[in-house]
Amino acid sequence: MCKIMIINGPNLNLLGSRQPEIYGSQGFDAYLSELRDKYPNCELHYLQSNHEGDLVEAIQAANEGFSGIVLNPAAYTHTSVAIADAILAIQTPVIEVHISNPKAREPFRHVSYVEAYVIGTISGLGLKGYELAVGFFAEEGRKGS
Ligand code: DQA
Repeated sequence: MCKIMIINGPNLNLLGSRQPEIYGSQGFDAYLSELRDKYPNCELHYLQSNHEGDLVEAIQAANEGFSGIVLNPAAYTHTSVAIADAILAIQTPVIEVHISNPKAREPFRHVSYVEAYVIGTISGLGLKGYELAVGFFAEEGRKGS
């Protein structure tokens, strides 16, 4: 079974119009529907929130029955002990995704509070990073079944 939770943090509801030179011009809903077409055998669940606690709750809720979590904590990447602790508290593997490459940007973006607790990080490849992460979990699921 391929059931994946995709979680986007603050300001990612503005994808498409937010700094398109950095984040591109496609909105996430359109991208997600392409992703669902590409992975018809995967259940792709999705939550975006601008609130830290919602992200913590979504991570906790994906502890049961999910093959993986694809997480872009956005600005909370660089500040959130609570999100790092939520990842540590669950069994479901997490892949951290960033659309841009935070390590090539301002120094405050160079620190990730979550990177030590995820199985891997994909950065700087645009929205394609989400597809690569979903593809990884889909492939792992096939191996496991
Ligand atoms: C981001 C990078 C973060 O530094 C930033 O705060 C974001 C988006 C990315 O996907 O490139 O909101 O996570």
